[in-house]
Amino acid sequence: MTKQLILGIETSCDETCAAIVANGRNLISNTIYTQIDTHKRFGGVVPEIASRSHIEKIDEVVHTALREAGVKLQDITAVAATNGPGLVGALLVGLNYAKGLAYGAGLPLIPINHIEGHICANYIANHDFAPPYVALVVSGGHTSFIEVNSYTEYNLLGSTTDDAAGEAFDKAARMLGLPYPGGVEIEKLAKSGDPSAIRFPRAVTENPLDCSFSGLKSNLYQYLQKNKEYNAADVAASFQDAIADVLAERALRAVKITDAKAFALCGGVAANTRVRTKVQEACASVGVSLQVPPISLCTDNAAMIAAAGFYRLDCVSNWLAVNAVPNLAL
Ligand code: KG4
Ligand code: ZN
Repeated sequence: MTKQLILGIETSCDETCAAIVANGRNLISNTIYTQIDTHKRFGGVVPEIASRSHIEKIDEVVHTALREAGVKLQDITAVAATNGPGLVGALLVGLNYAKGLAYGAGLPLIPINHIEGHICANYIANHDFAPPYVALVVSGGHTSFIEVNSYTEYNLLGSTTDDAAGEAFDKAARMLGLPYPGGVEIEKLAKSGDPSAIRFPRAVTENPLDCSFSGLKSNLYQYLQKNKEYNAADVAASFQDAIADVLAERALRAVKITDAKAFALCGGVAANTRVRTKVQEACASVGVSLQVPPISLCTDNAAMIAAAGFYRLDCVSNWLAVNAVPNLAL
């Protein structure tokens, strides 16, 4: 098989990323410039600042990815860039940069859905992993259970009816006075806490594969109002377990309903050890194997976009007309 090098570009939120991946599986370089420190003092991502920061960094990040891979633009087969979902201004920076680069170099551009990117991170993590399987993409913007029928065909089974799990982690962290991004901070604090100290609700949903976290968030708020002398570590551990339990229960239902033989966990929240453990236990209870990327490929990166681009090389069409779509569906 000839080596197909894809240059991936990802700027959907607060990370400016570029990466080179060979044949959808081999990671050659992976550059990430994170804006976390810039947004920290605002307690969350400020969209306008994110766009400006992407503009400042994108050229340097792409050239670093090329240099570290030891390849030139002429060696690249195609450029893949995220065109949604995400913050529109942030998406536009990466997408338009990618268009200009591709046009100038005479290369095709492959627009990639960010959620598909998270799923494809698993192909880099495990070179033998292949469809069909069920995936849970759980991040700051999404909590979706997806049947992956082929490298490019998906069937949405269920998703959150309100907040994404990562968003719930971030909002809870804010209530506890922890810095952004909250998921990592809650996990750190939870290490010294008792997960059974407080029984936070695990919401029931009409579709058994949907989930809901807004009630959990309100419940936490009420708990903090009523208990001024709360034990923060116990609160963090109990809150984290409520989310992990819901995700693990839905994962179990998803594999049972679809009769799946494999399950993939991906997205920023998949970096959480408690979530990984509980989903692993759920899968093991029915003999289903679990695939999870390493933490560096769970949170936003462009390697996953490059991997997805490889599997969409045949789908290249009138890419100059492609636009950024903030609520792009899979
Ligand atoms: O995939 P990602 O980097 O960006 C989006 O596509 O949203 O996910 C970011 C989300 C944030 O909400 C962050 O708090 C959460 O993932 N996150 C975690 C952990 N690391 C990141 N949540 C829980 N535990 C973690 N260790
Ligand atoms: Zn993401």
